[in-house]
Amino acid sequence: MSLSPSTEIDLAVVRDLLSHIRPNDDQEAQELILAALQEINEHFGWVSLAAARLVAEHLGTTENRVYGLLTFYADFRTEPRGKHFMLVCHGMSCYALGSQRLVQHLQDGYGIGDGDTTADGELTIQVVNGCLGVCDRAPFVKLDHDFHGDLTPDRLDAVLGQAFSRGAPGER
Ligand code: FES
Repeated sequence: MSLSPSTEIDLAVVRDLLSHIRPNDDQEAQELILAALQEINEHFGWVSLAAARLVAEHLGTTENRVYGLLTFYADFRTEPRGKHFMLVCHGMSCYALGSQRLVQHLQDGYGIGDGDTTADGELTIQVVNGCLGVCDRAPFVKLDHDFHGDLTPDRLDAVLGQAFSRGAPGER
């Protein structure tokens, strides 16, 4: 899905992030590719091709090597996140108590699956298979910095309706 160009990564900030990563030799440079990509991914929520090119340039390695790692690891995003970001827990307890219904509801009702962003760019979701550590409130999601538990599809709609005061994402 596409988002507005304003979500492009600021390469000056990338240069600043990379300035703290200083390999002593070629081997260390190779080892630091992941660390560099992680810094950018954590800061912006994704890594653009232009940012990946800067990593290659900074570490004196090939763009192919950097792209290869960027696209190999599922933790890295190569598209911008929406304005809001929601983790949907799909760990054992959440699964047993209905997280699959939430995932299906997001797909059916909002048109988004794991890693997708709504067409209006408001919401990105990520389904996580590891436990988020709040099993007594399963099924559970984390929307931006807020935690919501004991969810059903209807309650999830209410959470999204409240969080997005002008209506649920994808409905504008
Ligand atoms: S399995 Fe979802 S919070 Fe533990």
